[in-house]
Formats: sequence, C-alpha cells, structure tokens
Amino acid sequence: MKVLIIGSGGREHAIAWKLAQSDRIDRVFVAPGNGGTAGEAKCVNLPVSDEAALAAWARQEGIDLTVVGPEAPLAAGVVDRFRAAGLTIVGPDKNAARLEASKGFAKSFMEKYGVRAARSTTFTDHGAAVAYGAKHFARDNPPPLVIKADGLAAGKGVIIALSQREAEDALKAFMRESTLGEAGQTVVLEDYLAGREVSILAAVSSAPGKAGGAILPFVSARDHKRRFEGGQGPNTGGMGAIAPVPDFSPAAQEDFRRAILEPTLQGMEQEGMDYRGFIFFGLMVREDQCFLLEYNVRLGDPETQAVLPLLESDLGELCLSMLDGSLGSFSLRWKPGAVYAPVAVAGGYPGSYRKGDPITIDREVLAKTGARLFIAGASTGDAGDLYTAGGRVLALSAWGSDGDEAHARAYQAIEAVHFNGMAFRRDIGRE
Ligand code: AMP
Ligand code: GLY
Repeated sequence: MKVLIIGSGGREHAIAWKLAQSDRIDRVFVAPGNGGTAGEAKCVNLPVSDEAALAAWARQEGIDLTVVGPEAPLAAGVVDRFRAAGLTIVGPDKNAARLEASKGFAKSFMEKYGVRAARSTTFTDHGAAVAYGAKHFARDNPPPLVIKADGLAAGKGVIIALSQREAEDALKAFMRESTLGEAGQTVVLEDYLAGREVSILAAVSSAPGKAGGAILPFVSARDHKRRFEGGQGPNTGGMGAIAPVPDFSPAAQEDFRRAILEPTLQGMEQEGMDYRGFIFFGLMVREDQCFLLEYNVRLGDPETQAVLPLLESDLGELCLSMLDGSLGSFSLRWKPGAVYAPVAVAGGYPGSYRKGDPITIDREVLAKTGARLFIAGASTGDAGDLYTAGGRVLALSAWGSDGDEAHARAYQAIEAVHFNGMAFRRDIGRE
C-alpha cells in the first residue's frame, strides 16, 4: 500500500514512523512533512499543501490510504473532498469535525447525550456574556470563570479568568476587538474544574446506516502545556508527554468509559455522523471522576509521540478497520512499560524565537538510551543535517519498563541533542 499523511509536525513524524513499520505499507508520503519525515525509512516529503492539488495528486499516484494529522484541514472538509474524489481517507467529515471546530456545537452535543462535562452557557451577545460574568463574580469567593472562543484558535482560545476585570478584558478582546477573528465572536462561559488533566486518544468508527460503531481508546497520556517547570508560565503547544498516566486509575478508566466514551458513541450514531478517524478526549479527572473538557478530532501532539511507541498493533490495519466497520473486533495490543517524551523548544518560545540553528546529535548516546527522535520543527540541509525551523523543535521518546526508567532514558537522550538556545522542562511526568 501507498499512504499519504497530511501535516508537518512531531505528531505526523510519529504517525509516519509507525505506518512505515507495517509490512503492508511500501511507501509513506508526507505533505508537507519536515526534516524528520524526510529521513525516515520508506518516507518521502511532498511539498504540496493545497488540498485540491493533493487530492488530484493522490488519485494520479494511486494512494491507497490518507491519514490527516491536524484539525484545520479536517474542519475545512478535506475528508469530504478526498472521498468525493474516490479516495480512502481516515478522519471525521466536515460536519463531524465541528466537535472540535465549534465549542458551542461540542457543548450542545455533550449536553444532549449526557456526556459528563463542566456546566456552560454559549453566548453570541457581548453584553449578555459580560452580565453573566458580573453575576458570577458577585458571589462570595467566586471560583475562576473559564472563557472559551467557539472556533479554532490554535491554543489561544481559552482564558481562565480570576476576576470580573479579567473576564471583561477577555470578552472584549474576543467579541469586540475580534483578536481571534470569527473564532471569538461566539463564546462559551464554563464552570472551572479542578483536577488532573488526562488525554485519551482513540480510534472511532461511526458511519450513517452502518451497524457496529465503536470507539477504541488507546493507553492514557498526559501533556504538560505550560512553558516552565511546576506548571508555570505561558501555555504552549505542549512541552512533553507521557503514557500511560499512573494516576489514571482503573476506577477512573471505567468512569471514563461509562460517562464519556459510551454516550459519545451513542450521540454520533444517533446524529448519523460520519466519523471514521481518530479522536482525542481532553479530560479533567477528580477523585476518579472524569469530566470532558474538549473533543479534538485528531490525535494529540505531543501525546502521539508518547503513545504510538507503545502500540504493538499495525497502525495501517487499525486505520483500515475504522473505515470498513470492523473496528469493534480489532484487538489493540500494547507494549507494557511507559514512554516519556520531553520536547526541546527554541529559546524564546512561545514568544518569538530564532530559526536556522544547526542541531547536533550524539547518535551513539542516543542509541544507548533506545530513545526515538521525533522532529516537530526542523528542516534538512543538503547533507541531511538538521536545522531548527519551529518553536517546538523535537521530542525524545524513550521507553522504559516503568516510568522511572523511561524518565531516566528520556533525559539522558535529550542531553545528547544540542542547538543554540535549546530549552526543555525537566519535570515531564513529574509535575
Ligand atoms: P481546551 O482547549 O478546552 O482543552 O482548554 C485548554 C486548557 O484550558 C485545558 O487543557 C485546561 O488546562 C484548561 N481548561 C479548559 N476548560 C477548563 C475548565 N472547565 N476548568 C479548568 N480548566 C479548563
Ligand atoms: N496536546 C494537546 C493537543 O494536541 O491539542
């Protein structure tokens, strides 16, 4: 089989690496890919990002399967476009992608089908949202108020307001000053939930008129989103991930299945959604009770870099089973142990940062740790050498028989990599 992956980050590098391991897959094209996918076995980068051109190319090349990494092409309807062209593609269609592309839509879906989540109200009127905030903060000892832009905002759409003033500033920016464009014209105001965050990636097969819908959850993962140790500093795209999450107990897993996974599948089936792709449940867990913070209609980044190295099953076969309706009888096999995947970022990130610095790697030390290097933001020079090209530059994914061993190997491995201004958190999996 020939497969095409759409995207250019660390998640896509991990997907490409894992798909390339399948005996059934001969070639993996990554559009546009990055300096990591360029050097991966069986992989070829394709400098095309226009979706119409990609679909035409995929037909001509005889691509057997396409996998989409990021949310933006899914929300724009790439699945509908590829299927209309007779191509086989994994992902939700444009309608189902609203579970991520519109928080208002996602919240009403959760409410309608009894998916446990924080209480919230959706507003299109600025004055009404401000009045709701004023009432909230007029209470004695008010908890924070969570303000969420409805649309896709690349991680900038959620504000945890600690005071009425902060709430008003956020509502003004989103709804009046359109700092997020159309995405912030509608807002969701949500109760604040305390707890520990857990990410559950999963495979979904739900298609209208077809029996046998299923959602198969992967091992749990945790991302560390704040830039600095101890969960301090600005939000980032993710400073590192671990899998599985030791504090996600069997009781919490059972609660997740009953209170979130099952009603989600039921809702998809009752709505007649065409969702044959990956999903990401962003959970807040408190005393073994799970609340859904968000759906993402894709795999997580950097969670994927921690989860896929634990997957023993063939990812290509898993993709095909989502499409042909046999997912319910697919048996996912996982390697025991744990993966730690700290991310190295460019100095200054998530603010402005330098690009074009050469990356040196001590391959001997890296080999000793057994860690895998997943590139997020680096390009290749003429000799195949790597240069920084993004804020999040790379992740080191190390397996260990337990969390302590994975932690030790991951941090030995990251010391084997160097570039000017390189920074990373030392407390991934320990926050
Ligand atoms: P989201 O994009 O909805 O996942 O929100 C981004 C981040 O904001 C989450 O990863 C949480 O850290 C935080 N967050 C979102 N909703 C809530 C909530 N209701 N209570 C507390 N924290 C939240
Ligand atoms: N790691 C969070 C995300 O992928 O959205």
